[in-house]
Amino acid sequence: MAYSDKVVDHYEHPRNVGSMDKDSTDVGTGLVGAPACGDVMKLQIKVSPEGIIEDAKFKTFGCGSAIASSSLVTEWVKGKTLDEAAAIKNTDIANELALPPVKIHCSVLAEDAIKAAIKDYKSKSGQTEDEKAAG
Ligand code: FES
Ligand code: FES
Repeated sequence: MAYSDKVVDHYEHPRNVGSMDKDSTDVGTGLVGAPACGDVMKLQIKVSPEGIIEDAKFKTFGCGSAIASSSLVTEWVKGKTLDEAAAIKNTDIANELALPPVKIHCSVLAEDAIKAAIKDYKSKSGQTEDEKAAG
């Protein structure tokens, strides 16, 4: 199966690989696994007091598409609000990377990971969905 140039680029030069202190109150951590293949993805965000994602890091134990998906997502979320980041869809990722159908679940993993990281950050910072809606 041929990978797209963008997948290969992110796979060979992954952006934002690394870890942040998961106990830090301004860091949200999402750790998700793909039941289909056993791959694991950790994605972390660092959030400013204004609710902007200042930094993002990932570590992925998985295939090239999973690594490319998480690399791409860390680039996309930087500078975004939590709501904007939560709106990222796996289809956006799959389209950008031109993933073939059998690799769609790799992009789902990245969507799940960013959502989990946002949820973790919110629960740590004591934000409820209502407070978020109120601004
Ligand atoms: Fe997950 Fe390929 S099945 S690495
Ligand atoms: Fe399973 Fe890519 S995450 S094959």
